Formats: sequence, structure tokens, C-alpha cells
Amino acid sequence: MAEKKYGHFDDANREYVITDPKTPWPWINYLGNEDFFSLISNTAGGYSFYKDAKFRRITRYRYNGVPMDNGGRYFYIKDGDTVWNPGWKPCKTPLDSYECRHGMNYTRITGSKNGVEASVLFFVPLHTWAEVQKMTLKNQTEEAKTLKVFSFAEWCLWNAATDMENFQRNFSTGEVEVEGSTIYHKTEYRERRNHYAFYTVNTEIQGYDTDRESFIGLYNEFAEPEAVMEGKPRNSFAHGWSPIASHYIEVTLQPGESRDLIFLLGYVENEQDKKFSAKKVINKEKAHQLIAKFDTTEKVDAAFAELNQYWDNLLNIFTVKSGNDKLDRMVNIWNQYQCMITFCMSRSASFFESGIGRGMGFRDSNQDLVGFVHQIPTRARQRIIDIASTQFPDGGCYHQYQPLTKRGNNDIGGGFNDDPCWLIFGTVAYIKETGDFSILAEQVPFDNQPGTEVSLFEHLKISMNHVINNLGPHKLPLIGRADWNDCLNLNCFSWDPNESFQTTENKGEGSKAESLMIAGLFVVTGKDYVALCKQLAKEALESKEGEIAGLAEEDYLTEAERMQQAVDEMNEAVKQHGWDGEWFLRAYDFFGNKIGSDENEEGKIFIESQGWCTMAGIGLEEGLCDKALDSSKKRLECEHGLVLNNPAYTTYHVEMGEISSYPEGYKENAGIFCHNNPWVIIGETVAGRGNDAWSHYTKILPSYVEEKYQTLHKVEPYVNCQMVAGKDAAKPGEGKNSWLTGTAAWMWYTVSEFILGIKPDYEGLLIDPCLPSTAKEYEVTRKFRGGEYHITVKNPSGNQKGVKQITVDGTPISGTIIPCSEGKHEVVVEM
Ligand code: BGC
Repeated sequence: MAEKKYGHFDDANREYVITDPKTPWPWINYLGNEDFFSLISNTAGGYSFYKDAKFRRITRYRYNGVPMDNGGRYFYIKDGDTVWNPGWKPCKTPLDSYECRHGMNYTRITGSKNGVEASVLFFVPLHTWAEVQKMTLKNQTEEAKTLKVFSFAEWCLWNAATDMENFQRNFSTGEVEVEGSTIYHKTEYRERRNHYAFYTVNTEIQGYDTDRESFIGLYNEFAEPEAVMEGKPRNSFAHGWSPIASHYIEVTLQPGESRDLIFLLGYVENEQDKKFSAKKVINKEKAHQLIAKFDTTEKVDAAFAELNQYWDNLLNIFTVKSGNDKLDRMVNIWNQYQCMITFCMSRSASFFESGIGRGMGFRDSNQDLVGFVHQIPTRARQRIIDIASTQFPDGGCYHQYQPLTKRGNNDIGGGFNDDPCWLIFGTVAYIKETGDFSILAEQVPFDNQPGTEVSLFEHLKISMNHVINNLGPHKLPLIGRADWNDCLNLNCFSWDPNESFQTTENKGEGSKAESLMIAGLFVVTGKDYVALCKQLAKEALESKEGEIAGLAEEDYLTEAERMQQAVDEMNEAVKQHGWDGEWFLRAYDFFGNKIGSDENEEGKIFIESQGWCTMAGIGLEEGLCDKALDSSKKRLECEHGLVLNNPAYTTYHVEMGEISSYPEGYKENAGIFCHNNPWVIIGETVAGRGNDAWSHYTKILPSYVEEKYQTLHKVEPYVNCQMVAGKDAAKPGEGKNSWLTGTAAWMWYTVSEFILGIKPDYEGLLIDPCLPSTAKEYEVTRKFRGGEYHITVKNPSGNQKGVKQITVDGTPISGTIIPCSEGKHEVVVEM
């Protein structure tokens, strides 16, 4: 039986259209891409924050509520005795029509009931600390309609963590002001905060509420606020308890008439000496200015057009025309969009990440970089500096930092020995995209301590050294707390259910725990580092100053040689001690026992080391890569993708930690952890196996899943999720943890650079596709360092890999790198 569908793609408008509000899970979108952000579900649930979802939460949201997704920006429309919401929730009054369109940083929700249509466009204008909500009400009947419209937002008391906990204080701190049609939230403004929020509408109001209990009623739900049900605002004033903001507006519409109401939810910061305009009265000057910018339909429409233009520009940098809609829509729209969102949020705020638990991850953010560096390189540059500034002098790093303070912390653990390598991964991607070597000369501190600055290049060097200085008995990298797989806790030995696997003290002393994943990662990033040093030597020779990051040509060459040797040694160590016969081992445990070996009863094979060691091409000539890839296919593959390990662990192993804490088929215990599927896919392309690469790729490509499995998959069909339940789970194919996942960047990196094969390199664009035999021709337009390349790849005989000939503007070039040059160019690639 065909599955029920909840929506469809609208590629021309770059939207996903949801046609039934009862999606199997809230299907959300993100507004804002700079400082002010909102999460919005298909029923208008969600919340807003400024920069930091923990420390500057503007509106309140309760996670894991009953029912699901309660709380958001709600509009109640009272038409006679009927009360309804354009997004169906919270009243859940059956609508005559419903549609939610999630687009690039905007969402439009339209509902209609009894001849009235309400369409609300939500977006955060560029460079603006506010969410616009433009509501268009239309009377589609033959009679005049008088409607009572109530808006609703609930303020969070800024710190999202204490907001949920510290009620003995919270219930006494709430403060508001009301001025005209604007409700101001100023809790804690009297003391150390210099920021406030406001909610306004561009029309005169006939009443308001700012106290939740007065508006809703103590024992009522969002679905039946007393004030709305009675059609009478209370004009309540919050003192402590829970401050809210609700406008009451009476609207009369003649037959066919429509009217716009523009609501604005904003955030303002004042200078310390300009906080008040009178005793206890907040200085509203900046709010007034902000409100004036969006108080007419024309102004709002112009801001919306600007936002769309912004996205046009971002998405025009790389476009593909392949004749396959499912591929094109992911490459041209949704994959790139998800990368941008992941860049903005790291793993902090989604419907699976509370915004409180995690800030910006060191490894996560470096990987996210490859997903958006082509679009906003200046922000990528800043991101690299921010990340590197949290590193320690020995190359180790904080695992995360808070976006507001940019300071590293150990809240989610530290001592993950893969972390340092990722800095090289991110930085190399940035330089290859931009050609900006000057970033390496930037002076970057350790642990944000002024006075400790060294060049970014030095940071890269100590990152490499951190691996070399932490090798185990087999000369493989010691794993530390864990590597990329946070849950493979080989030094943890936890029997206490009250301690976290990530933050509890590790047994480092005497540990023999080594990681084959870090080994592969080290070879990949080590080769990158060597190539970078060689390029720097060349640049040093050519540049007028004779040096870039303080070193001369021969120093870079010596450094390249030193690292090449370390890479070669690692290669050997993997072949000698990391090969299990049919695949790469995953690790050695604390005691030096094998993990991910045929000798083990469960967890015989793991994906991470197959991915990284094949990406690194370790043993490629000897056929090890082919074998490892075949084994992955045989043992890890299922209909929904490649599982992380097989067989799943069926009992808890104290010497392995969290991985074995999950039931079979979920998360790191044999879930399809989408993030690492691209590693194998890239490995396949390194081995030239285009058909296999494509088959693995499309299994987790949202557009392919969308066509088949909207109900089973549950989560948003337009973006990747972190994890899909694996073959050992109760419901294989069920997705979880959507949106914020390294999968986004890795899917992008894989398809753009390894499948379609357009790879930024120091001297130009390297062309090296790896295709399924069915791909006969496609076109890519790529903007790169001032040039625009229209590239046609011709593959008439259905080869999987190997470029025969490239012509640029009609002239054949030697090699496979299109040299940089400004202006438009026609490139033809023959496979
Ligand atoms: C974390 C990553 C980690 C992955 C695998 C994700 O939730 O953000 O840093 O590599 O899980 O454990």
C-alpha cells in the first residue's frame, strides 16, 4: 500500500509545500541567518533567540511536551463562535484549507475557515534583529465579516536553562511595559541586562494582554485561552509570573476585501548609560527605529524581496542541471540550505537539540565549513579563527564553545583526540575555495588568552603534532575520550547511571586504546597539510614579502617532508596493525584488544574506519580499499543506508561505553548514522566505483526518501537527519535528529566534489567526477574566485571515472585543473 503523503517539493519556488498539518513529526524551518534566529514548525510552533539559544532566548518553548509542539507565535481568529488558527494549532479547529510553505529562511502558513483566509508570512529580514509576521486576512464571502484577532507570544526569561528550573526566582522577576501597540519585555533589565524584546503590530489595538494566567486561565490550554474564547482581552499587566504578549485587534472586512497586519517581534540592546529614558522606563529609541522600518506592507515586501535576492545569490554559486529532478533539487536548493542552517546553529537548536545542551562544536563546526565556504567565505574565515582561538598550546582543544562569548568549555567533555585534525580540514577547504593564504598569518590565541597569540599556521602544525605526540603501542593514534564517534568510550568504564559518558573522568593512564578512524583522518588531513606546505613554499617564493606565515620557502619544504614521513608511517601502521583480513579494524581497546574485528562476536565491522581509510586510499594498490568497500556493502548496507556497525551490540560493554548503551539499530549502535555514509561514498569514488557511490548516496538522499517514505521516515523530507533507524531496529527507516548534523556538509562535499567532481584547489578547479554508468551528461555552473565556469561533462560511454580531455573556451588544457581566470568560461569535460 502506498504511504500517505504530507507534502511535495515546489522547485520553481524553492519551497517544500506541506498540505496536511498533522505531519508525522513537526516539520520545521529556520528564519534568520546572522544574529536573530527563529525555529518555526508547520503549525507555527517554535521560538526565537538572539545569537545564543541558551543565553538569549527571546520566546519560550517547552520541549518534549504533551501534546507535541506546543507554544509558538499563534494567531487566534474569532469569527462568531468559531475560533481557529491559520496553522491549525493550537485550537486544532478543522480548517477548510491548510498549506505551509517552507522556503529559504521564510515560512508561509495559510489557513482558511468559513470564507476567511489568513496567510502569514514569517521571516527575519537581512541584518535585522526581529521576526516579521505579515498576516493577510481575506474575506472570500459575499458578506461583511467582523473578526476578532488575537496574537500570542510567550516570553522566555532570557536564560533558557534557568527559565525552566529556577521558579522560586522566576515567578517574581517578570516585568513588561506597554506603549501604544507595542508590548515590551524587560525582565532583569533593571539590573544587569541591557537588552529587551518587544512585540508590536502596525495598527491601533483594541486591547492587549501581558500576563499569561489572565489571558489563558490557569487551568486552560493554549487551545482555549479564556480571553479569546470570550472575545475579550483583559488588558492585563504582568508582575512576575509568566509575561506574555498578546494584541487584540478588531477587523471588519467587506466582501472580497483583504487587509495586512504586520507584527514584529524584535530584540534591542542599549548602551549602559542609555538604558532608561526615565526612572524605570526603558529607552525605546532603538525599538522605535526598528519598528518604523517594517510598519507598512511595502517596506515588508521590499525586505522580503531582498531576502530572496540574497538566497538567489547564494544558490547561484553552484548549480547543476542533470535531468534528474531529485538530484537537482537537493544540490541546487535543499542541501545547500541545510548547510547554511547547520553553519548558523552547529548542533545547538533544533526540535531534537534543546538549545541548552550544546554550543558550537570544534569538530562539528570545522566540518560544517565545507558546506558553506563557497557561499560566505568571510564568515567561514571568522569561524576558523573563532574555533582555533579555543585550542590549547599542545594542540588539544575544547570540544565546544558558546557562540555568545566564543569561549571554550568542557560542558560536553574534552580530550577527543580527533578534534585537532578537523582544524586542518576546515582551513584547507577555506584556502582552496578563496586562495586566501593570509589567513594563515592571522595571530590566534590559545584558550582565548590575550598575549598567547601565534599564527594560524602554527595552530595547524600543533594540531598535526597532537596526533603524532599521542600514538599508542601500534603507532596508531590514541583515541583519548573518543574520536568522531562520541559514544565509543574506550577509557570510560562507567557503571554509574548518574554520570555522563562524555564528561566523567577517563582512565587515560596505561590505556592502549587506539583509533583507526583517527589514523585515516590523519592520513587524509596529513596529505592536505603536506600539499599546503608545498603550496606555501611556492607562494613564499613568489610573494613579494617572501613569506606568508613567518616561514621561508625551505622551512615549508622541511615541514612538508617531516609530515610526509609521519603520514607514510601511519599508512604502514594501518596496513600492519589495522587490517583485519577483509576490512579495517575500528580500534584497539584500553587493554589492547581488537574492536571491529571478525574475531569479535558483535560489532565485527564499523563504518568509520572503512570510510576514512578508503578516503585516505590506504592499501589502494594492494586491493585493501576494494575489499573494505565490498565488506561494507555486504555487512553494513540495508535499504535505508549503511549502518554504523554490525552486528549491533545486544548487551552493555563497560569497556566500550555509550555505544553499547543504545538498543540495537539506534544511534551509534548500528543506526544509520547518516554523517558517516558519505565517508564510504567518497571512499567508493577514490576507488573509482561510481555505481556503488551513487547507490549509497541516493539511499540517504532526502528527495529519494521523500518519494517513498514520508510516514515511516517521520522527520522533514527536505533535509537529512542525523540518524535513521538501522536494520536491527524495530522500525528500520525511521528518521531522528533532523536538520543539525554533519551529514549536510558531508553530503554537499560528496556530491559537489566527488560525484559531480568539481573540486576547488589551490591553482583552480580540479575536475574529477565519479559517476554511475547511467549518467551520460550534465552541466554545472560554478562561480569561483571571480570566474564563472559553465561546465558540461560528457560521458557517452557511461564510464565511472577518468577524465579524458578538458577544453576551456574551445582550447584543450593539459591536466584536469581549470586555471582561475575572471569572466565567463565554457568548459567541456570528456570522460
Ligand atoms: C556529534 C558529533 C559526533 C557524532 C557521532 C554527533 O551528535 O555532534 O560531534 O561526531 O554525534 O558521535
